[in-house]
Amino acid sequence: MRFPFLFATRGCRAVYRLHQKPFLSPVPPLWEHRSSAALSTQLCKDDRSYYITTPIFYVNASPHLGHLYSAVLADCFHRYKLLQGFNSKFATGTDEHGLKIQQAAEAAGKDPLTFCTGVSKQFRHLFSSCNISYTDYIRTTEQRHREAVEHFWSVLWNKGLIYKGSYEGWYSTQDESFLMPSQVGDALDSLGKEIKVSLESGHKVEWMKEENYMFRLSAFQSQLLDWLRGNPQAVQPERFHQAVLKWLQEDLPDLSVSRQRSRLQWGIPVPGDDEQTIYVWLDALVNYLTVAGYPDKHNQWWHVARHVIGKDILKFHAIYWPAFLLGAGLPLPQVIHVHSHWTVGGKKMSKSLGNVVDPLERSQMFTADGMRYFLLRQGVPDSDCDYTDDKVAKLLNAELADSLGGLLNRCTAPALNPAQVYPSFCPQSFPRAHGGRAVHEDYHMLDAIQKLPAVVEKHYEAMHIYKALEAISACVRLTNGFVQRHTPWKLDRKNNEDQRWVDTIIHISLECLRIYGTLLQPIVPEASNKLLSRLGVQPHERSWAGLNFLARYQGMDCPFEGRALGSDSGVLFSRLEPHNADKQKPKKTKKSANLK
Ligand code: MSP
Repeated sequence: MRFPFLFATRGCRAVYRLHQKPFLSPVPPLWEHRSSAALSTQLCKDDRSYYITTPIFYVNASPHLGHLYSAVLADCFHRYKLLQGFNSKFATGTDEHGLKIQQAAEAAGKDPLTFCTGVSKQFRHLFSSCNISYTDYIRTTEQRHREAVEHFWSVLWNKGLIYKGSYEGWYSTQDESFLMPSQVGDALDSLGKEIKVSLESGHKVEWMKEENYMFRLSAFQSQLLDWLRGNPQAVQPERFHQAVLKWLQEDLPDLSVSRQRSRLQWGIPVPGDDEQTIYVWLDALVNYLTVAGYPDKHNQWWHVARHVIGKDILKFHAIYWPAFLLGAGLPLPQVIHVHSHWTVGGKKMSKSLGNVVDPLERSQMFTADGMRYFLLRQGVPDSDCDYTDDKVAKLLNAELADSLGGLLNRCTAPALNPAQVYPSFCPQSFPRAHGGRAVHEDYHMLDAIQKLPAVVEKHYEAMHIYKALEAISACVRLTNGFVQRHTPWKLDRKNNEDQRWVDTIIHISLECLRIYGTLLQPIVPEASNKLLSRLGVQPHERSWAGLNFLARYQGMDCPFEGRALGSDSGVLFSRLEPHNADKQKPKKTKKSANLK
């Protein structure tokens, strides 16, 4: 397929003449189909399917903290949906084509594939060390992906949505992105030389003039606006939704979707024109379809796709990608979950500043659960967060080691629980109507924990993981307060009434711990497993459906009452020394001395 054509360029804006393929008006908006009877039947059929993705990671350098954050967020959603009984698919992987990778391989003196394989393995190793439970790991250099991209390209081409034209303007290799003049500013490089940079990323840009293929992006402007206006939840949080709407109200030029082979060899050739290489972002975005089984078997997954992305790649996911999908006649992602960035000492992480946080090293220092908990508890989607080792140690000590670990230790320690069982609940000691030994605050606590699963669910659904963890942490404090208030270690166990009250206090506390352990599984899978195993909660009893809190108080049977506790496998989470956190691994401390 070779195309005779005419083209001319003006400034950075590509000016083109259409050739060969007549322009087809863009396909009808697919999101409207969602409300149609036909699709809602389809949705009902497999409405327990869930498909979540991370961005695929560039392999030009080793993984850093920000990469782990994207992966931990997506892993948390995946695990949460599995707990809820969904059939969940979770894809991650590496983005291996493009100029940036070609240059990094050259600089390393390796052939590109060997270079990519090495760094891709580092990502895989990080993810398995941090319990990222992906169901598919895609590399864009795989054959299945090449086939998907070639097919996708051909669909767009056959619909007349790609044409040969010319691009003249700014390009940032670091961002693999084309920029408008208004997005470019002046700066000095490390040698004091004047350069042009992207105002958004700060990365160097270069002027390029090339004959290449253009995608008719401008034709989708109003459909994209309609999609976003009709689906206020499509891009979350709200401020990013608004940012995309604003971009869409500005000029939306057509997009160059190929590079000349003479400049970029490391990529998928344009079908039928091996003088051109497919633009790395088009190639990369199609990974989400490849994993879903495109072009033949993607239906089960594609209409339930959700993407987790960092704010720097919003335009690619919320404008280019939906436009490509509309062009190809495919449904749009259900939600694009956007997160902000991690800074270090208030500064952007960068090699030149020497402040890049190595997530593998940190997960060895603080444990995988420790890093997961910190990132999800402190990471706020709306605004950037600052990382310091000290903050990690302080948070983990306070919430995992002392508060949650201390509570488990108190309630399972042989001094207070010599029979090592889930003791009985006594309705007379803690009646539904006041009058037993429980006080007003105790009823307040039960009420809060009863409501906790719904609160956590609401926050997990909205990607406000930090709010879910805040709510759990507040409830853990309430339970510690409950135990502290009634000082069961001071009661006279020879007195039957006191013994029943001690048992009731421990029964309630273990029920609280069971709820916390179950809800925390997506966040700290190892610690949750340890906690639930210590309580004697079997794997099939750890789902969302099994959360029924304090059945005995509701007048129902409790399957755990009287059951032997699981074996003691040590402290739940070891304390860290805040000031030396960067020098040491977690110490095995003595069990907490909470028992008087
Ligand atoms: N390869 C593209 C994505 C293609 S997806 C079809 C890419 N890769 S990346 O390796 O540069 O970035 C991957 C993810 O890491 C993005 O979500 C990005 O936002 C995230 N982070 C990169 N730096 C970050 C921080 N400092 N903090 C948090 N996340 C950040 O972009």
